[in-house]
Amino acid sequence: MKTIEKLSTAIFRKNILEMTAYQVAEADGFIKLDAMENPYGWPNELTEAWLKTLRNCEINRYPDPDARHLSDKLREMNEIPTELGILLGNGSDEIIQLLLMALPPTAPVMAPDPSFVMYKQISDGLDLNFHAIPLQENNFELDLPRFIQSIKEIKPKIIFLAYPNNPTGNLFNTSDIQEIINQAPGLVIIDEAYAPFTDATFMSEISDFDNLLVMRTVSKLGLAGLRLGYLVGQNEIINQLNKIRLPYNINVLTQVSTLFALSNYAIFEQQTQLICQERTALMQALNNIPQLEVFPSDANFILFRVLNQSADALFTFLKGQQVLIKSLAHHDAPLTNCLRVTVGKKEENRIFLTALSQYFSRLNQEN
Ligand SMILES: Cc1ncc(COP(=O)(O)O)c(C=O)c1O
Repeated sequence: MKTIEKLSTAIFRKNILEMTAYQVAEADGFIKLDAMENPYGWPNELTEAWLKTLRNCEINRYPDPDARHLSDKLREMNEIPTELGILLGNGSDEIIQLLLMALPPTAPVMAPDPSFVMYKQISDGLDLNFHAIPLQENNFELDLPRFIQSIKEIKPKIIFLAYPNNPTGNLFNTSDIQEIINQAPGLVIIDEAYAPFTDATFMSEISDFDNLLVMRTVSKLGLAGLRLGYLVGQNEIINQLNKIRLPYNINVLTQVSTLFALSNYAIFEQQTQLICQERTALMQALNNIPQLEVFPSDANFILFRVLNQSADALFTFLKGQQVLIKSLAHHDAPLTNCLRVTVGKKEENRIFLTALSQYFSRLNQEN
């Protein structure tokens, strides 16, 4: 072994040495339908007004460590009562990391499978014991008896439930989630990253449970580049997490820009409405392709399975047409041969659908 590899083996934890870094696909020049981003920009006047607010930013000073103006805006928008706490993170990814960093060594953590990959990725990096509990294969609902049984055996300190779930797109049954919150000996984090695309939420139920926290992000709304997530829950829990939050985790440009954007919320309402309309159109078009099994979605993406053919080959073909989606083809069941497409602009979706039908008509000609 080379000396430098010996050195890193001697220094880093085994779990980290065995991990692979989170991969982000190179997307330059592609129609980007892989990352659940909002595809729309802002009108010029809004961009100009935003740039004006940036002029007053004192980037020579540290940011407000509590991001008070932004916190207040988020409280107001989400009607968060004063007795609950709010914690801001550099994306919800950082909040997941904070929650997991606060656990005792090797603590058990649980989430359904498949679900958002960072729950496991961050748990692995921190040497925690991550338990993935399979969803029902046919409809991606929670397998409640199995989940509750696992809670009893594993006694997880934290359970993550993405609502709607990524990558499957569905909302889990509400009463199943309530049962999980009731049975969980530790915290239950309802991850509402896709809240802009559904009316379903647990935000108004936080006060009813000591162990329920709701996490949201502005990423899917249209501000992914700013990196801002937030967690709402009982003050006692938020105060503990605040002790390990880095003091200036929300930079000054993010504080000012997010506050500006949220104060002009009408633009996002228009855009998310458009995305939901396009979701319906895209869903219909995909459902008309007999070679695909398409799953319902309450988010801004759609999961589909390629039937009797290689999803990999389709993914590669689309890439050749400069259309980038997300391949989950190599995952175990129930994601085998599945791909996930983010809802784009009308024209982007049209190009994606045209490429799909080209692919299948070419296949038909060959057979
Ligand atoms: C369920 C879920 N939670 C959290 C995130 C990450 O959000 P953020 O951009 O705020 O880190 C994602 C991103 O894809 C997600 O799908």
